[in-house]
Order: sequence, then structure tokens, then C-alpha cells
Amino acid sequence: MSKYFLTGGSGFIGSHIVERLLKDGQSVTVYDNLVTGNRKLIEHHIGKSNFKFIEADILDVEALNKAMPGHDIVWHLAANTDIVKGNNNTDFDLKNCTIGTYNVLECMRKAGIKNLMFASSATVYGDMPPKPLAETDGPLLTISLYGAGKLAGEGLISAYCHLFDMRACIYRFGNVVGGNMWHGVIFDFIQKLKNNPKELDILGDGKQEKNFFMVEDCIEGMLTIYEKMEKDCDVFNLGTDTYSTITGVADIVSEEMGLKDVKYNYSGGSRGWRGDAPYVHFNIAKVKKLGWAPKHTSDEAVRIAAKRLIGKE
Ligand SMILES: NC(=O)c1ccc[n+]([C@@H]2O[C@H](COP(=O)([O-])OP(=O)(O)OC[C@H]3O[C@@H](n4cnc5c(N)ncnc54)[C@H](O)[C@@H]3O)[C@@H](O)[C@H]2O)c1
Repeated sequence: MSKYFLTGGSGFIGSHIVERLLKDGQSVTVYDNLVTGNRKLIEHHIGKSNFKFIEADILDVEALNKAMPGHDIVWHLAANTDIVKGNNNTDFDLKNCTIGTYNVLECMRKAGIKNLMFASSATVYGDMPPKPLAETDGPLLTISLYGAGKLAGEGLISAYCHLFDMRACIYRFGNVVGGNMWHGVIFDFIQKLKNNPKELDILGDGKQEKNFFMVEDCIEGMLTIYEKMEKDCDVFNLGTDTYSTITGVADIVSEEMGLKDVKYNYSGGSRGWRGDAPYVHFNIAKVKKLGWAPKHTSDEAVRIAAKRLIGKE
């Protein structure tokens, strides 16, 4: 049994990780300030001997230093996940992503914890043409403060591994989807269509192309990489090598909600909003070599996630 320290563990992805780790018989401490996390997703585990919940902030160094020692692996997911909010409050990602990640690393160094799993993002690639991006593609000119925060986090992690003999997996996710999702385009479309089933406002021209993949696949991929990665610090795309258009997502969501002839209103041109990359195509050959592949195409993942959010599955 390993002792996992899960920052951001009461959020969408984190709460799924909790279920998986406890099912595997591991011990889990969730450290989360609940800013976007949901206590309800994890509270059924409170009281179990191999589960602990600490409501605290990764910016609270004293609390972090008190909570982390004694764990074997840090799975760092805590971050601002509202990209638009981060662009409007210019120090938000700097604090919650960059300084937060620094605090986690520094606390690990002091506590002698060597193993880290880090949730990074395709946003580190910035605005790239519609071609499958490999981990070696660059120049990594990010276009959102969220992306900048993730890229800074990757840099700090790499340096800490080199300097302090740590081992870290850096995962660049595509769009992770599933049940309990509280953000993202599928969730937004469902909310909007519940309010008005006849019309749907779509940010951008609907031709944006993104890869969506299931949260269960994401967790399986992270664990596979953690087990099989050879280098001390390495970076992996995790997503699908298929993609869905945003109009395609609207079609799937409308269909699953039983709606016909929904009028789509597009706005903002080819980009959804400033800071959003219209194309996110992944080359996932590197992770496939380790024996992992997503179980569903992007469109299938969108459909399953839509069904779960609507309550059909
Ligand atoms: N969902 C995706 O498609 C996606 C894509 C790329 C990367 N990611 C990354 O995966 C991770 C998890 O994302 P998610 O989709 O589950 O989002 P989420 O918002 O549901 O989860 C983030 C969690 O971190 C917590 N948190 C935020 N700031 C904190 C702080 N300062 N101190 C302590 N806890 C804090 C929140 O309360 C929340 O529980 C994030 O790092 C996110 O950037 C997600």
C-alpha cells in the first residue's frame, strides 16, 4: 500500500482518482481548499482508516508542511481551472498554479518525498496549427495565463527533479470529460440548453477541433506512465488522437437531450475567446509505446460524458 497525497482531490478528476485509489487498497489524503472542488464527491469516504480530508490551500505553506510529510507520492492537481477568470485576474494563475506548484515541490523536498504526478495541460503548446502535436513540438508560446502557469510548473518540476533526485511524471491532458464535471463545453452546453432548448449560443465559429477523452482513461494513463516511465522526469500527452468539432459537440449534446432543430448562434470568430486555442490535436505515440491507449474516440467520449451529465447513464 502506498500513501498518496492528492492536492485538488475533491475536484472533477481528483474525486475519480480517489475512487480508483481506494478501490486499489491505497491510502489517500486529499488536500483541497474547495474553491472549485465539491466536498460531496469525497465525503462518503470520511471516517475510513485509509482516507483523510484536509480542507486547506496550497498557498498556505504552514498547513502544507504540516500535512504532507509521511506520504510516498504526491499527485498534484490543485490549480485554478477557470481559464477566463485567470485571464481577468492576472495574478490568479501565478499564485494558484506557479507558486502553488513551487510550494508543493518545496514541501516535498523538505519532507524527503521523491515521487510526483503533475496535471499539466495542452495549453502549454499555445496557439498551434491543426496538426498532431508531439511532446517535442514547440516553441511553447502560451496564450493564456493558465497555460503560462502550467508551463512554469513543468519547468519548476524538471529543475527540482534534476537538483534534488525527485521523480516526476508530467501529464499534458487534452479535454478530460466524464461524470461530476462542473466546467467545460459539454457541461456549458447542457446548462444553456436546459435554460433554452430552442437556441444555443456557441463561442467561436464551431469549427474548433479539440480532443476529448474519458476521465477513467486519463487515470489509467497516468498510472501506466507512473509505473513504466524510464526517465526521472518526463512529459507525456494524454488524450486521444481523434478530435471533435465544437459544432459536433453541440450536435451530440442536443441529440442526447432529445432536442431537434436547435438553432446555433455563433459569436467571436474562429476563436472561442481570447486565450483559447482553436485546435488541439495530439500525437500520443509516446504514451502508446508504454502500452496505454484511450478506449474511446473523442466523439464517443463526448457522448458518454453528455449521457452521464444528463443522468442517462
Ligand atoms: N479537466 C480537464 O480537461 C483538464 C485539462 C487539462 C488539465 N487539467 C488539470 O487537471 C487538474 C484537475 O482539474 P479538474 O478538471 O478536476 O478541475 P477542478 O476545478 O474540478 O479541480 C481542481 C481542484 O483543485 C482545488 N484547488 C484549486 N486551487 C487550490 C488551492 N490553491 N489549494 C488547494 N486546492 C485548490 C479545487 O478546489 C478543486 O477541487 C487541474 O490541475 C487542471 O488544470 C484538467
